[in-house]
Amino acid sequence: MVFVHLNALAIVAIFLNLACHTTGFTLQSLWPNALITSSTITPKIMIVGFYPDEQSVWEGIPEFDIFGQNITVPGLSSQFPQVHCTKEGDVCQMLAGEGEINAASSITAVAFSPLFDFRTTYFMIAGVAGINPEIAGIGSVTFAQFVTQPALQYEFDAREKPENYTTGYVPQGSQFPSQYPSELYGTECYEVNARLKSLAVGFAKTAQLNDTAAAARFRATYRGYAPYAAGTTEPGVYECDAATADVYVSGRLLSEAWQNYTHLITNGTGKYCTTLQEDSGVLEALLRADLAKRADFARAIVMRTGSDYDRQAPETSPIDNLYFGQDGYTPALNNIYLAGVKVVQGILMGWERTFKRGITPENYVGDILGSLGGRPDFGPGSIFTMDGESGTTQLMRKRGRGQLRGRRRPL
Ligand SMILES: *[C@@H]1O[C@H](CO)[C@@H](O)[C@H](O)[C@H]1NC(C)=O
Ligand SMILES: *[C@@H]1O[C@H](CO)[C@@H](O)[C@H](O)[C@H]1NC(C)=O
Ligand SMILES: *[C@@H]1O[C@H](CO)[C@@H](O)[C@H](O)[C@H]1NC(C)=O
Ligand SMILES: *[C@@H]1O[C@H](CO)[C@@H](O)[C@H](O)[C@H]1NC(C)=O
Ligand SMILES: *[C@@H]1O[C@H](CO)[C@@H](O)[C@H](O)[C@H]1NC(C)=O
Repeated sequence: MVFVHLNALAIVAIFLNLACHTTGFTLQSLWPNALITSSTITPKIMIVGFYPDEQSVWEGIPEFDIFGQNITVPGLSSQFPQVHCTKEGDVCQMLAGEGEINAASSITAVAFSPLFDFRTTYFMIAGVAGINPEIAGIGSVTFAQFVTQPALQYEFDAREKPENYTTGYVPQGSQFPSQYPSELYGTECYEVNARLKSLAVGFAKTAQLNDTAAAARFRATYRGYAPYAAGTTEPGVYECDAATADVYVSGRLLSEAWQNYTHLITNGTGKYCTTLQEDSGVLEALLRADLAKRADFARAIVMRTGSDYDRQAPETSPIDNLYFGQDGYTPALNNIYLAGVKVVQGILMGWERTFKRGITPENYVGDILGSLGGRPDFGPGSIFTMDGESGTTQLMRKRGRGQLRGRRRPL
């Protein structure tokens, strides 16, 4: 159902478009989101959560009314069909649904919706996660620079893996767990804007974070084992990286496998601290929207708060960790709002001076293939620059010759 009425501006846009055609010039090339109408929403920030608790934290807050307008967007999940925005449309919030598929599909739908203009919008992932006690404790707030996809690997059941493997997971196209993958799908790793991340961290650090007695008691069970010292400290704000997998892992060995994969795929620069089920899907959708000039990947912020540990405390089991280890949930949810609202306010207050024109990244920003241009500082190199025979170029050529089609056996 078309319900966006064409106002005078849109009619001018159509007219200009026709005029441009006669000169061999399309308006779309100048103004990709034409027709922009008076009802197009141009948010300054879009907060992305994944399930209802991650929306509730934004309801009834003093800073803004996220229910100022509700926009039904074709292509969103049947469970969460609406984007919610303030009346002015400067702050929006949506639920993408859980898991990689829901995340990618929902963000694609919204990013390509003609109801919005996201070219200057900051997309902030704001959800809970499993947290690595080597880095931080439950209740803490993390901002990632790298987002990896560790379940995109071969897998043997641990009971059937070769004796000399440290895990059942093996990078695709490789022969043992610590070998760099020789076959890439393009979604293995994303890097976001580090300068923007630092600004977000600065804003979040002004928050008075929440903690509870139950969370503090649970953190204390990680005491007495030196590698987990950081995990026993009260909630703080951290810069560390995220691993996306549909598989919700619990236990030291699987968490360590995610950690090792993150180390491998980021060429040793990534510092794994959170495990979650969506962020790679969100970032791939934003990357494609950027390629289509509908969003700016350099405006992505990945914020996750620790609701539970990825691995068990000393003296306890992975199964106890999964089923009885959720005491961090309340502060994690509260801190999505408490830290997140500072980021929202920071962006709104600094809009004219700083954020409107964007934060120019100083690091490589994009995927492992170099899709947005530049040379990835992880992975085998860009497939798009012809300035050398990078590993990825060779890899893609090889695939192009059909040597690695279909379901491939390890070489
Ligand atoms: C938007 O949806 C919420 C929750 O469903 C509702 O409480 C609110 O009144 C709606 N806002 C408008 C403007 O209709
Ligand atoms: C691991 O063991 C398998 C046999 O189970 C062997 O084929 C392989 O070469 C070994 N790999 C390494 C890295 O030692
Ligand atoms: C992770 O890597 C370290 C260092 O290479 C290794 O000792 C450990 O066994 C690996 N863990 C898993 C679960 O593969
Ligand atoms: C954290 O939140 C809980 C529940 O919302 C509340 O009872 C508690 O007082 C808060 N604690 C702090 C330190 O803000
Ligand atoms: C990352 O590591 C792989 C495997 O060792 C290597 O082929 C690649 O050149 C490295 N990439 C960068 C950017 O250093």
